[in-house]
Amino acid sequence: MKSVALIGFMGSGKTTVGPLLAELLGVPFVDLDEVAVERAGMSVDEVFAAEGEAGWRHRERDVLVELAADRPLVLGCGGGVVLSQENRRTLRERYTTVYLSASTDTLTERLAGATDRPLLDVPEPKKQIERLSAQRLCVYEVVADITVATDGQTPNEIAIEIGDRLEVRPKS
Ligand code: S3P
Repeated sequence: MKSVALIGFMGSGKTTVGPLLAELLGVPFVDLDEVAVERAGMSVDEVFAAEGEAGWRHRERDVLVELAADRPLVLGCGGGVVLSQENRRTLRERYTTVYLSASTDTLTERLAGATDRPLLDVPEPKKQIERLSAQRLCVYEVVADITVATDGQTPNEIAIEIGDRLEVRPKS
């Protein structure tokens, strides 16, 4: 099987659903942010502070490409992974990409009190969520092979829906 990449905005459930889906598919789960943080020896916040967003994006890209050559896995991607054209190509070519969509209200609720998310460390995080998700929504949709609406679904239900939909998709 092709590796599965979970994409979607911060708070869309990639890190919660990912391990459940991985178990269902019998492959490991890897969190892209976690690997990038481990490699950097710094938290996401610290990388943003030391190297800016551009530094983080380089690190993110390197891990995405490297893991694409690995054994099949479920990869939970950071919300901004789709911003680069190179990453979008990697996702299309090397992964079956699943977009976890959620309404702004749901995202705001899930992200209340979130830490280590430098892009939301602003005076009005809800406005920032609205602004960024408006910019990114169509990019997630274009990159995704499968879109799953997560509002009102439990992580387990979402993982099962993805599993079902992956099975009926012709594998390449
Ligand atoms: C980001 C999302 C974060 C992390 C970084 C930037 C983004 O990952 O990669 O803070 O640009 O949306 P999560 O989506 O796992 O929170």
